[in-house]
Amino acid sequence: MSGVFYRSPVKAYPTISHGRGVFLWDTDGREYLDGSSGALVVNIGHGRTEVAEAMAEQASRVAFAHTARFTSEAQERLGSLIARRLEPETYFTYLVSGGGEATETAIKLARQYHLERGQAKKVKVMARWASYHGNTLGALAASGHLARRRPYEPLLANQVFVHFEGAVPHSPDSACLCLAHLEARIQQENPETISALILEVVGGSALSGFVPHPGYLKGVEQLCRRYDILLIVDEVMTGMGRTGDWWAHRAEGVRPDMMTLAKGLASGYSPLGAVVAHETVWETIRHGSGTFAHGFTFSGNPVSAAAGVKVMEIMEAEDLVRRGQEQGRVLAQTLERLKDESPLIESVRGRGLMQALVLKPVPGRPGAVAQGLGDDAFQHGLIIYPGSGSSGSTEGDHLLVAPPLTVSVAEIAELGERLLASVKRVQESVSL
Ligand SMILES: Cc1ncc(COP(=O)(O)O)c(C=O)c1O
Repeated sequence: MSGVFYRSPVKAYPTISHGRGVFLWDTDGREYLDGSSGALVVNIGHGRTEVAEAMAEQASRVAFAHTARFTSEAQERLGSLIARRLEPETYFTYLVSGGGEATETAIKLARQYHLERGQAKKVKVMARWASYHGNTLGALAASGHLARRRPYEPLLANQVFVHFEGAVPHSPDSACLCLAHLEARIQQENPETISALILEVVGGSALSGFVPHPGYLKGVEQLCRRYDILLIVDEVMTGMGRTGDWWAHRAEGVRPDMMTLAKGLASGYSPLGAVVAHETVWETIRHGSGTFAHGFTFSGNPVSAAAGVKVMEIMEAEDLVRRGQEQGRVLAQTLERLKDESPLIESVRGRGLMQALVLKPVPGRPGAVAQGLGDDAFQHGLIIYPGSGSSGSTEGDHLLVAPPLTVSVAEIAELGERLLASVKRVQESVSL
C-alpha cells in the first residue's frame, strides 16, 4: 500500500521516469509517444531544461510572496508578454493555478463587473451544451457535460445552456440559424439576469475539435454587446498556439471581455492558469470598489509565472505557433487517411494541432469505445485523449489527437501508424 489515492483505485499505473520532445518513458523503460501532449498541455514538448532552470532560478531567489502584498518580476513579465500578444486591445492578466480556477475567477469577475455598474440582477452564466470548463463546482455548473455533472448535480448552481451548433450542418445560413436560437434563449431567460456567456472556441474534451460555423462567434459577440453580457472565451485548451494562432478567437475576429488560459501557458512545467480581462473590466473595478473580491493563496505564484515566461520565450524564439499551424495540416491529412482505412472513424475535425477523430456510434456502449481505444493505444505506446458526450448525452465518442507543437513530420507518421494499429484492434471487437 503506497498511500496514494489514485484516480482509479482499481487500476495499476506505470511510474513516469522522464520525457524528451514528444516521448515519455516509464521506470520499466517503456516508451510512449505523447500524441495528446498529456491533456493538451505540453505544447513545447517534454524535458525542456531551460524551463526547469528558469523555475529553479526563481525559486532560489524567492519562491513565494503573497499577492495581497507583493507583485513579482515574473508575474509582471508574463502579464506584458500576454498583453503584447493581444494588441492593439489592452488586456490585464490575473494568474491562478489552473483552468478550473480560471473559470471560477472569470465567473466571479463578471459578477463583480456588473455589480460595480449597478446591475445586481446579472448573475447567470450561459454556456454551450456540450462543453467543459472545469471540475470545481462553479465551473462544473457552467459545463454542459452529463457524465461529469451527474454525481454532483444537486450541488450545482442553475446556469443557462444553449444547444451547441453541431446539429445545424455547415452552410451559408448555419451561423444565422444558430444565432437566432441563441438570441431566443437569451430573451427567454431575461437578458437582465445574464452576466456572462462562456464558450470554447474550438471544442475540447466535450466537443472534440468542433470548429464554429463561419461568422458564428462574431454574431455571439454582437449579441453579448446588445444584451450587456460579458463574452468569456475559454482558451484553456485552444490558447498558446494549439490551434495555429496564439489565441483561437483571433481567427474569428472577436474581442472577448475575458479569456481564460491554463494547460499550455506553462506547458505543464508548473500548475498555472490565467484570466485575461479586457481593460473595460479592469477600469470598471479600478473606478468602482477598487478591489476584486477574490484571490487564492497561490495566485500569481512567482515560480509558476517564471515557467510561463520561459515557455512564451521559447515559443517565440522557435516560432512554435507557425510550426503548429504547418504540422497541424500534416496531422489532419494523416488522420484523414486513417478515416479512409477504418469504418470506426466517422469524421476528422479540428484546427492546427488540435485534431479529433469522431467515432461512429456503437449502440449500447457510450464512452466505452473511445476509452477502449485510449487504453489499447496506451498499452501499445501511444497516448491520446479519449472522451465522450459530444452528442450532449453520454454518447458521442471521440479522441483528441494533439501532440506537442514541436512534433516532426516523421513523428506524426509514427503517431498515425500506432493509432491505426489500435483502431484496427478495437474495431474487431465492436459490431458497427
Ligand atoms: C476548455 C477547458 N476549460 C477548463 C478546463 C479545466 O482545467 P483544469 O483541469 O486545469 O482545472 C479544461 C480541462 O480539461 C478544459 O479543457
